[in-house]
This record gives sequence, C-alpha cells and structure tokens, in this order.
Amino acid sequence: MEISNDIIWIGASNNKQKIFESQYNIKNGMSYNSYVIKDEKNAILDTVDEGVTELWLKKLDETLNGEELDYLIVSHMEPDHAYNIGLLAKKYPNMKIVGNQFTFNILSNFFDIDIEARKIVVQEGDTLNLGTHTLQFFMAPMVHWPEVMVTYEQTEKILFTADAFGKFGSLEIEDDWITEARRYYIGIVGKYGMQVQALLNKAKTLDIKMICPLHGPILKENSAYYIDKYNKWSSYEPEEEGTLIAVSSIYGNTLDAANVLAEMLKEKGEKNVIVCDLTKDDWAEAVANAFRFPKLILAASSYNAGVFPPMEQFLNRLKERNYQKRKVGIIENGSWAPSAGRTMKNILGEMKDIGIIEPMVTIKSRLKEENMAQMTELVRKIR
Ligand SMILES: Cc1cc2nc3c(=O)[nH]c(=O)nc-3n(C[C@H](O)[C@H](O)[C@H](O)COP(=O)(O)O)c2cc1C
Ligand SMILES: [Fe+2]
Ligand SMILES: [Fe+2]
Repeated sequence: MEISNDIIWIGASNNKQKIFESQYNIKNGMSYNSYVIKDEKNAILDTVDEGVTELWLKKLDETLNGEELDYLIVSHMEPDHAYNIGLLAKKYPNMKIVGNQFTFNILSNFFDIDIEARKIVVQEGDTLNLGTHTLQFFMAPMVHWPEVMVTYEQTEKILFTADAFGKFGSLEIEDDWITEARRYYIGIVGKYGMQVQALLNKAKTLDIKMICPLHGPILKENSAYYIDKYNKWSSYEPEEEGTLIAVSSIYGNTLDAANVLAEMLKEKGEKNVIVCDLTKDDWAEAVANAFRFPKLILAASSYNAGVFPPMEQFLNRLKERNYQKRKVGIIENGSWAPSAGRTMKNILGEMKDIGIIEPMVTIKSRLKEENMAQMTELVRKIR
C-alpha cells in the first residue's frame, strides 16, 4: 500500500487465520498494519501480530536498509499489535519507546524491557519532531483499551487511528468495507460509544487527508464517509431503515413464523429485512445488524421456563455493547407454558431506551390461522 515517499506501510495479512480474539469468525483472514516514517530520525508506528512477524520483519529490514530505528510509537498494547515489541527492543538497543503512562504500565506486564532507559512519556497534544515530520499525540482512553492513543502527522496530514476505522479481512481479498468494518467496530468497540465520541470530537479539529488504521485498508479519500459511520455507531443511532429478525428455534417452527413475518414486511414495502438464525449464522454479524437498523424482531422458542439459549446469549451480547434507542418486537413459541417472551422482555428491560412493539405474538408449537391477526398488527406497527 502506497502512502508517501517517507511513510511506508510494512503491514501484512494472515490469510490462514480463521478466528480473531478467539471469538470472531474471519472467513477472509486478518490484516495487521505497521508503518515506518523515514526522516532524520526514523520511527515505526506499532508492531504486528505474532502470526505475520516474519513478513513484517523482512519489510522493516528492506525499508530501513541498515539505518537506525530511533522511535517506536505504541498506540495500543493489545498483542495483535504489540507482540513484537520485545523483538524490536532487542534488535535496536537504542530505540526509544513512545507511549503514555498507561502504555508503560501494560508494557511492563508483557515484556522484560528496561523501560526507564527507553521510555518517552507523552500527554495529550504533545509532539515529537523527526526532522521534516512532526507527530502529535491524542489520547483515546478506552477505545477500547485504556492506553490507546492516535497519532497525527502534521506535515502530510495523516491520522494513525489505532484500531479505529479498522476491519476484519486480509488485504488480498476484496470485500465490502462497511460490512466487515461494522462487524469489527460493533463487536469489539461497541460498548465504548461515549469514548469514541470524545475521540471524534478531537479529530474534528484536525485537517485529515488520510486515515491509517491498524487493520484493513488505508483510507485515502472521503474520510467524511468513514467518520460519519463512526459517528452513527458511537452515538447508537441506526445507520439506515430496516428490520433484523433474530431467531432462536429448536425444531424450526419459530423460524418458519419468522420467515412468514419477513415476507409480510417485504410485501408492505419494508426494505432491508434480514432474517438471522442465531443457531447457525455468524453471531457478530447478527449483533452488527441489530445496531444497523432501527427495528429488531426477536423470535424464540421457550426452554425450561426461559428462552432457548442462543437468544439469551444474543441479547446478552447486545446488552454488553450498550444496545439502546431501538424498537423491538417479540414472537414467542411454546408447547405448554410459553416463557420465551417474558424472559426476553426481562433482559430488554436492562437496556436503555428500548420500546417494545406491541402486540407480542404468542405461538403454540406452530404458526396457525389464529395467530395471523396479531402478526398483521405487528407488521402494521413495524411499518
Ligand atoms: C429442553 C426443552 C425445554 C422446553 N421448555 C419449554 C417450556 O418451558 N415451555 C414451553 O411452553 N415449551 C417448552 N419447550 C417446547 C418448545 O418451546 C416448543 O415445542 C416450541 O414450539 C418449539 O419451537 P421451535 O419449533 O421453533 O423450536 C421446551 C423444549 C425443549 C427441547
Ligand atoms: Fe485492539
Ligand atoms: Fe487490533
């Protein structure tokens, strides 16, 4: 990836990786970015994940071509970026490490490095001059770790954003930026909307020509588009019209009812109706789509006087990410004493600003003619 004469991307993709942070499926692998700035003083911005060490190191050697590495800027201590700090410290005994107070607390947990001899502690707005380039640091606490900071290069007007504006997927495989960026953001950072808003407010004061994240492509144009998406996600506003129908069904009868509802909604002109089977489909995409739309329908079987567990887990994942400001409809199914609806309402009650769309539809074992009046009324309310 081309950046400029003096700023060189030395990242790499792991195409074999199937799962990220031990819980997110990544069918297209994952990319880890790292950047070198060549100047009177040479600096590197972050290292990479263990899995791509070799290729990264080769690129680093080629880029420095025997020159000294003066500074390592650590924007995030999570191992997918910080794994190789120990290796760099060994390779470059004179290299200073630039971070904030929290960076060095965490760094000392992970590595046996003489931190006192190497550390340069920066605070909000501090600068580091490399020659013709000047780096300015802005703190982004809890986006999504406490030590996160972003770096603005003043001469070329590039913002290095740490995990922000990143996505799942290797760089070699073309996919839809928005789908994988949304799944990444909502999954990993979704809980920290307020902190992301604080960061976006700082970004507003900068003239940004290019966004360089730690995952995914470098965003060279139209930064307003990406910032707008982040603004919506972090303020918990829906992105566009639409309804997600999330289904947790044991034998398939509740899933049938959900599909009937989806058809009824489409007939009434509702665009973007997505049915998601929580027992099979990607959970992080389901969670991301719940945030994407203003309306969510939950359809679930009853289970031991509660709700069939995939639904409970889905709702807990929404809650964990501060899901709020949405309209939610409910279809419950039970063969003797339906309990799914009550259980789902209880979990929804622990979230902020959730409006229940009445009526709740109660099915006994399978959808029947007698349920259709309630189904029709639910569709009318959703539309
Ligand atoms: C382990 C287990 C526990 C269940 N517990 C309840 C229950 O507490 N109340 C109830 O009405 N039905 C209960 N059911 C029955 C299902 O909820 C019911 O058959 C429902 O119609 C299944 O819908 P589905 O075809 O979408 O899975 C239970 C089923 C299983 C397998
Ligand atoms: Fe991270
Ligand atoms: Fe990361």
